[in-house]
Amino acid sequence: MADPSNQPRILLTGASGFIGGSVLTQLLNSTSPSIQSAPITCLMRGADRAAKLIATYGDRVIPVLYSDLDDLETTTAVAAQHDVVISTTVGYHTPSTRAIQEGLAQRKRTHPGSEPWFIHTSGTSNVGSRSVSSASPEGGTFDDVADDVYGFEVAQNTKEPYAQRTTELAVVDAGLELDVRTLVVMAPTIYGVGSGLFRKHSIQIPAFVATALDHGRAVVISDGRAEWDHVHVQDLAALYEILALKALDAGDALPWGKKGIIFASVGRHSWGEIAQGVARACHDLGVLPDLPVDNLSLADGTRLFAKSYLGEADELLVELGLASSGRTIPTVARGLGWKPLRGKEDWERGFRDDVEAVLEERREKGH
Ligand SMILES: NC(=O)c1ccc[n+]([C@@H]2O[C@H](COP(=O)([O-])OP(=O)(O)OC[C@H]3O[C@@H](n4cnc5c(N)ncnc54)[C@H](OP(=O)(O)O)[C@@H]3O)[C@@H](O)[C@H]2O)c1
Repeated sequence: MADPSNQPRILLTGASGFIGGSVLTQLLNSTSPSIQSAPITCLMRGADRAAKLIATYGDRVIPVLYSDLDDLETTTAVAAQHDVVISTTVGYHTPSTRAIQEGLAQRKRTHPGSEPWFIHTSGTSNVGSRSVSSASPEGGTFDDVADDVYGFEVAQNTKEPYAQRTTELAVVDAGLELDVRTLVVMAPTIYGVGSGLFRKHSIQIPAFVATALDHGRAVVISDGRAEWDHVHVQDLAALYEILALKALDAGDALPWGKKGIIFASVGRHSWGEIAQGVARACHDLGVLPDLPVDNLSLADGTRLFAKSYLGEADELLVELGLASSGRTIPTVARGLGWKPLRGKEDWERGFRDDVEAVLEERREKGH
C-alpha cells in the first residue's frame, strides 16, 4: 500500500477570495487521480470560514489558520510540508511570497529528489502602458513564449516601481536564489461569478459599476480606447488545475524562473467597452437613467474610483489597473492544453451579474 506521507500535497492560499475560492472548487472537482489523491491545505484567516470549508468539503480540505500575511513563521512552516503551493492572496505582498519560498526550499532539503513548485498569482497591469499619461498610448502586445516579459518588467520597474510587479519580480528572483521553481500566472481582467464559498466577484468591473452608481453615469478614464484582455474566473481556475497537475507530475512540462511568467487571456476589450457594458446593464436594471459614458481625466477618475470602490488609490494604480493598454497572448497555457469554454456572450452577460452583485453588496451594507 502507498505510504500516505509520501503523497504529494497541495497548499492553497487565498481560498476565501474570488480567484482562490474558484481554484479550490476546481481542484476539488478535478477528475485527475493525482489531484484527487493530493490533500489540499488552505492557509487562511477566520476560524468561522475554516469551519465552513470543513462543513462543506469534509476531509478533502485541511484549513490551517494564521493571523495574516505577515505571519511569516507559520507560512514558512506550512509551506515546508507541501509540494505545490498556489498563492492567490493579494499580489503585492512580497514578504509572504518569500516565506512560502523559504518553506519550499526547506521541503527540497528534507525530501531529496523532490521538485516543489510555487504558483503565484499576479496581473497584466504589470505590463500595462501608461496610456493616458505617457507619450505611448498604444502599449505593447506580449507573448509569454516569444517575448522577454521578465526583462520588460525589470526595465519598467526600474523606471517606475509598481507594487504588484515588484512582488512578481521578487518571486522570480527568490526562486532562482533559493532553487525553487516558480510559475507566475499573470491574469488579465477576470470576470464572471466565482465558484468559491466566500468572495464571488472580482474587483475591476465592480469598480466601474460602483463608480457609475455614485456618479450617476458610467465613467471611463480618457477616451477609453486602450485595450486589455479578459478571462472568465472558471476558465482561469481550469488553468490552475492544469498547472497543479503538471507540477505534481514532476513539472517537466512547465516553464519556470524568468520564462515562467504566463498569461491567461481569452477575449479582448477596451475600457470604453466596459463602461458601455456597465451603462447598459445599469440602465436595463433601472438604476441609471442614461446610457452615455463620461470621459474623465486621470485625476478625476482616480478620485471617483477611490471614493466609490477602491478606497486608497493613486494615479499609477488606477491608470495601470483601469485604463492602461496591456494585450497578452497565452501561448504557454494553450500549449499545455488549456481550452477556455467562455466567450463573448458570457463576457457581455457578466456586466449584469456585476451590477446585481454591487447592488446586493450595498443592500447588505444598508446603503
Ligand atoms: N480579480 C481580478 O480581476 C484580478 C486580475 C488580475 C490579477 N489579480 C491578482 O489576484 C489577486 C487576488 O485577487 P482576488 O480577486 O482573488 O482578490 P480577493 O477576492 O480580494 O481575495 C484576496 C484573498 O487574499 C486574502 N488576503 C488579503 N489580505 C490578506 C491578509 N492581510 N492576510 C491574509 N490573507 C489576506 C483574502 O483573505 P480574507 O478573506 O481573509 O481577507 C482573500 O482570500 C489580486 O490582489 C491581484 O494581484 C486579480
